[in-house]
Amino acid sequence: LGWGKSLPVPSVQEMVREDSQCVPERYIQEHKDRPVENEMCPTSIEIPVINFSLLVNGDDDERKKLHIACKEWGFFQITNHDVSEEVIKQMKAAVAAFFELPLEEKRKYAMAANDIHGYGQGYVVSEHQKLDWCDMMFLMTFPPKYKKMKYWPVMIPGFKEAVEQYSTEILKLAEEIFANISLLMGMDKDALKRLHGEMMKQGIRMNYYPNCSRPELVLGVSPHSDASSITLLIQDDDITGLQIRHEEGWVPVKPIPNAIVINIGDVIEGWSNGVYKSIEHRAVTNVTAARMSIATFVIPDDDVELGPVETMADDYNRPKMYKAIKYVDYLRHTLSNKMDGKANTELLKVKIE
Ligand code: SIN
Ligand code: FE2
Repeated sequence: LGWGKSLPVPSVQEMVREDSQCVPERYIQEHKDRPVENEMCPTSIEIPVINFSLLVNGDDDERKKLHIACKEWGFFQITNHDVSEEVIKQMKAAVAAFFELPLEEKRKYAMAANDIHGYGQGYVVSEHQKLDWCDMMFLMTFPPKYKKMKYWPVMIPGFKEAVEQYSTEILKLAEEIFANISLLMGMDKDALKRLHGEMMKQGIRMNYYPNCSRPELVLGVSPHSDASSITLLIQDDDITGLQIRHEEGWVPVKPIPNAIVINIGDVIEGWSNGVYKSIEHRAVTNVTAARMSIATFVIPDDDVELGPVETMADDYNRPKMYKAIKYVDYLRHTLSNKMDGKANTELLKVKIE
């Protein structure tokens, strides 16, 4: 999901506030990982856009578009959805208000050692690794008993309400997407939701990427795939930062105002026997403006198995290519490995001798 053990690392936001020109060694990527413009993927390529209102009305062509999006891109933007503009606006404002707090205030919500909730940085697993140009805040939002209120900055007026409303509406959207993908996978419409087990969970990662004087040297978030079933993302309307792997290159995801970016995570790649892809992605920074994004992860219950469902496998033509390991064991692996330049799903795949 994009977090690691919480070794204490500085706040990038604070570093840039103190000296806008400084880019410490720990943030400078190896040459091969630097975000150079990629000629193989001209910026004119766009990820698929799915019209939600057509999809919920059972439009066959739109559902086919969703199938192509999940299979060939792993990413799509969704327009005409039911998450209200006001709720999105309030959520973005709540997150902005949090990052605007003075550092001493934010530190009150700092991620404790070996916790995944709270304010800090993702993917910090060793003293030697390259660091991401990003500060973040992670909160579990569903089920309610998993909320750790000590990490919620409830002193910000409206913060709790904004996050609760947003997470409720975004979960409804996620369930509608699950219903459509269930049908595409040859199952009944409630199947994917059911596959998440007793306790389908949701967590929200709020990202703050300060501007950077040398954006060609650093990464906001280094390449990874999400250990979720799906991830739903909202971002600033006017700053492009997210890029996805597509045909050997990186394709930028250009924000469409009020659209929600959805990607298939490792869990659905496993369940679908690799037909739907959990695509590697990264975020880049820019010289002029800080960027914010808010990623909501839907994840299954701990003991749910990640192997292919029966409708997506048969012994002759489509053998099972993914291991039936438990979600909690998979998550433990992905959190303790920073798999450089490799999608997390490598851990899940059955190795063919
Ligand atoms: C992420 O996928 O971890 C962040 C993506 C973004 O900031 O757009
Ligand atoms: Fe991600």
